[in-house]
Amino acid sequence: MRIVLVGPPGAGKGTQAAFLAKNLSIPHISTGDLFRANISQGTELGKQAKAYMDAGNLVPDEVTIGMAKDRMAKPDAVNGFLLDGFPRNVSQAEALDVALKADDVKLDAVLDLEVPEDEVVKRIAGRRICRKDSSHVFHVTYSQPKQEGVCDVCGGELYQREDDSEDTVRKRLEVYHTQTEPIIDYYRTQGLVVTISALGKVDEVTARAMEALKGDK
Ligand code: AP5
Ligand code: ZN
Repeated sequence: MRIVLVGPPGAGKGTQAAFLAKNLSIPHISTGDLFRANISQGTELGKQAKAYMDAGNLVPDEVTIGMAKDRMAKPDAVNGFLLDGFPRNVSQAEALDVALKADDVKLDAVLDLEVPEDEVVKRIAGRRICRKDSSHVFHVTYSQPKQEGVCDVCGGELYQREDDSEDTVRKRLEVYHTQTEPIIDYYRTQGLVVTISALGKVDEVTARAMEALKGDK
């Protein structure tokens, strides 16, 4: 399956993507994680992305689209993928359509996670991620690691993302509403959007998502 996951910052996209990708045997491709890995490795791409991310803005399309396409061209993504955080504006969605068409494949679904803004703020305020791998995500009350400050998966140090400060989160939410939400309408015209509530326990949301995707096949 080829799925796009969409939802506001802190909706739980990364958390759900990890389970859904495993259940569906497809790779989880997160542009946010790819940028963070580049930043921690000190690459040129990471240097270009960092200032935009810290300010809560989108990284320019020239950088993002190439990076996403390179990742999708890897052998593990030939038969499907779960995109998390890409596309994030209409021009990225159009670029993705062109790339898929060139490969003669199509998206199966766009899974839209709906969460009220006050819940998103709580989820982001308590989020802690792993220094070694930013896809290892915890929460100080909702999803505590066994040992405080230590990643359960790999033993890495847990920390709060630089862009999770109150001001930057406000900016990211604004960017989501103005630039990312329009892709939901874009995909609605293609009949691809499945909206679910992302409230409730993590496993309840995963079950809801699996059910919605099954119905969509
Ligand atoms: P990115 O990393 O994609 O951030 P985001 O979209 O803002 O999403 P988040 O990672 O904040 O949240 P999430 O929905 O994954 O939630 P999570 O699962 O962690 O992007 C960061 C930046 O990179 C962007 O601002 C931009 O600058 C740049 N970027 C990335 N892609 C780009 C693109 N395509 N174009 C341009 N720029 C791009 O969950 C949040 C917390 O809630 C966690 O602590 C978790 O434990 C907890 N939680 C999750 N589910 C539940 C639940 N059901 N109940 C209780 N707690 C829960
Ligand atoms: Zn880890």
